[in-house]
Amino acid sequence: MTVKNFPRQSADGCHNLSNSSQTTTITSAGEMGARIFLRTWRLFTHERRSRSLSYLGVGVLASGVAWYHGIREASAARNQLDTSRFMADPVTPTGDLSKSPGDMKTKMELLILKIQSDFCRSLESVEDGTKFKVDKWSRKEGGGGITCVLQEGTVFEKAGVNISVVSGQLPPGAVRQMRARGKELDEGSLPFFAAGVSAVIHPRNPMVPTIHFNYRYFEVTNKNGSVQWWFGGGTDLTPYYLNEEDARHFHRTLKDACDQHDPSYYSKFKDWCDNYFVIEHRGERRGLGGIFFDDLDSPNQENAFQFVKSCAEAVIPSYIPLVKKHKDDGYGYAERQWQLLRRGRYVEFNLIYDRGTKFGLYTPGARYESILMSLPLTARWEYMHQPSADSKEGKLMEVLKVPRDWLNLQGK
Ligand SMILES: *[C@@H]1O[C@H](CO)[C@@H](O)[C@H](O)[C@H]1NC(C)=O
Ligand SMILES: *[C@@H]1O[C@H](CO)[C@@H](O)[C@H](O)[C@H]1NC(C)=O
Repeated sequence: MTVKNFPRQSADGCHNLSNSSQTTTITSAGEMGARIFLRTWRLFTHERRSRSLSYLGVGVLASGVAWYHGIREASAARNQLDTSRFMADPVTPTGDLSKSPGDMKTKMELLILKIQSDFCRSLESVEDGTKFKVDKWSRKEGGGGITCVLQEGTVFEKAGVNISVVSGQLPPGAVRQMRARGKELDEGSLPFFAAGVSAVIHPRNPMVPTIHFNYRYFEVTNKNGSVQWWFGGGTDLTPYYLNEEDARHFHRTLKDACDQHDPSYYSKFKDWCDNYFVIEHRGERRGLGGIFFDDLDSPNQENAFQFVKSCAEAVIPSYIPLVKKHKDDGYGYAERQWQLLRRGRYVEFNLIYDRGTKFGLYTPGARYESILMSLPLTARWEYMHQPSADSKEGKLMEVLKVPRDWLNLQGK
């Protein structure tokens, strides 16, 4: 089993991992991911500091800069498209975006740029001056992305907020997989467009939960020019200690966002989330869930977009209050050890089961730094660790084994 090769890792670093002979014992399906993981780990700890990232000043033109809402107005006054609050310039040249304000590709790119900068600035606002590093990259096949990482902060040990806007040709194998999922697509290679935002936040204090979210839009064009499009995404929470009030706040905020669009969405997407983030070999969930959906192409493109927008905008109110509430809570060695152990479980899920990670890593020329950005800076494995049922750790395990109906909807 892949993961058993890791437990010698120390709690506060990865000195043991620099012995590369350890990696040679790793066999199994996770081999490739694990190797890249180790390599990345070393990169992060030893080389990261010297790597030349493009540090874009995050000190921003003050308050007055308004995010401009009416895309339609932009076509009248082209250079009004205000990109000054974004973490970096849009991936698509601003001139091109201004020319197609009604196109979903434009709307989605502008949405994820804004979600990224709002979330990064919101996280920075609870830090003691630690800022995001901004890395803008491009892909020779088309498009690129903006990767923002905040590492070794006071509140956040590692926070990654990533957007990507890519286009090109889907290989026939990928098209076949989409056809198998019910997409009406021709066989062979087809042009595609994908834009998404994804983030994983690992706080230092074990009383502050980890959050993950991802919202994405996909388009594939058939030979006759017809376009298949869909949205996917979700937000989920992974606490180390269970606080029921926090769990209810988090789920309530997501439900409110869903309810504005369809009264059936929250329940459906909560269940989907509970069934997705499962660490199968342990029979437990990664966390307390949230919402998760894919292949959303109804009721129409604009309404689906508005739903995704509401979900993405619910991230800050669902999470930042929990950070503020708990960032100064007291904790000791035992709580920290438990946090690291649970992060190990997070890694198990991401490397063994997460489709996004696997898809990314097996793609030739994959940008593994971004794909593995979601992994925590430190984690821990302990042989046969079993918290007692009546401990605080045991209380968390209970809800990871049997997901709860946080908002008491079944009883109504
Ligand atoms: C984050 O960036 C990587 C490429 O560096 C990409 O593969 C991944 O899909 C991105 N995530 C999202 C949701 O944009
Ligand atoms: C275009 O091609 C797709 C896939 O083969 C097909 O489902 C669709 O009906 C076609 N549309 C038109 C307008 O011919």
